[in-house]
Amino acid sequence: MNQNDVVISGTGLWTPSQSITNEELVISFNAYVERYNAENAAAIEAGELVSLQGSNAEFIEKASGIKQRYVLDKEGVLDPSRLAPRIAERPDEQISVQAEMAVKAIHQALENAGRSVSDVDAILVACSNMQRAYPAVSVEVQHYLGMERGWAYDMNVACSSATFGIQAGVDAIRNGSAKCVVMVNPEICSAHLAWQDRDCHFIFGDVATAVVLERAEDAVSAEQWQVLGTRLQTKFSSNIRNNFGFLNRCDESGVGARDKLFRQEGRKVFKEVCPMVAEQILDHIGSLSITPEQLSRMWLHQANLSMNELIAKRVLGRPADRVEAPVILDEYANTSSAGSIIAFHKHRQDLAVGDQGVICSFGAGYSIGSVIVRRSR
Ligand code: COA
Repeated sequence: MNQNDVVISGTGLWTPSQSITNEELVISFNAYVERYNAENAAAIEAGELVSLQGSNAEFIEKASGIKQRYVLDKEGVLDPSRLAPRIAERPDEQISVQAEMAVKAIHQALENAGRSVSDVDAILVACSNMQRAYPAVSVEVQHYLGMERGWAYDMNVACSSATFGIQAGVDAIRNGSAKCVVMVNPEICSAHLAWQDRDCHFIFGDVATAVVLERAEDAVSAEQWQVLGTRLQTKFSSNIRNNFGFLNRCDESGVGARDKLFRQEGRKVFKEVCPMVAEQILDHIGSLSITPEQLSRMWLHQANLSMNELIAKRVLGRPADRVEAPVILDEYANTSSAGSIIAFHKHRQDLAVGDQGVICSFGAGYSIGSVIVRRSR
């Protein structure tokens, strides 16, 4: 072991208890469409408004691979007169929703790593949306974990937040500013999704994942994954965009407008991002003298099944099976930064010491992150 070696020594996954199937989603969406079209019949007839079209469960599964998603609040999402989760505000004295789910995932990750809260030096909350401006959610997480020392900060690189967070954690450990970093992804995607928009209403779900990073020489867990390398790439694009922010109130005309929630040019994203991701993985493993044949697993970001199949095929030079490129989006949908970590959490135990794989994320920014790991224990 080199003293610069860093390992992933544990992971955690917290899944909401409520879930929505495509069929349930489509029933409530179509009820909303019917109501909208009836209420606006005159304007639609006069050509002032365009009628809305219904959604379809078969289309959703075929276009995305998604069969269901977990959410914090099913009732609000499925209420045709609302189509948004009901998540009550909490007083300042109470733990916030996002910190609460982060703490649950972290406890599991620490147990998995054979560590306790007192071993942790730093908390990174890395995800697509922070529930407030400040104080940082991570500092609240640090408090509710009962950490009596250390530091914490929030970071947001949308769907790539987890791999960027892993690199930040690895760098902190290598440069000596921490020995043990916990990187956590509390994703409440149901709250940034336009459930009224047929093109994307099926895409997202809620979840929290956590990763424990430590110096290899300190780690005690039975199973460890050495981080062989991390690589990040960003390239500006508005094809996935959400304009929600603190300046919104400065122009009343835009408050509540469609652009203040997630939106995307799905086809363009598909076409532009897949080749960039495959190229980055190939280049990254090449720089570590690893051939595609030596890659036992690809834990890819979970946004769209066809995207993952195309990326895996480009990397391997042949179609990958679901063991080589595990799929969790059928059950979880797109959980933004957490997707590749859920895949890693659920689909790694069968690999042997010495086996190598890549955790890879991609999404808004554009942003792409790859983390090459080797099972070291
Ligand atoms: N139900 C039924 N039909 C629908 C529908 C729905 N919910 N939503 C769209 N359609 C229709 C469209 O109107 C279109 O009809 P047309 O051919 O008559 O014009 C047809 O289905 C195809 O629509 P399109 O939007 O082109 O579908 P797609 O095959 O590109 O799939 C996505 C849409 C979003 C699943 C896909 O583009 C995608 O996943 N892209 C990757 C981007 C991504 O996931 N990003 C997340 C962040 S990384």
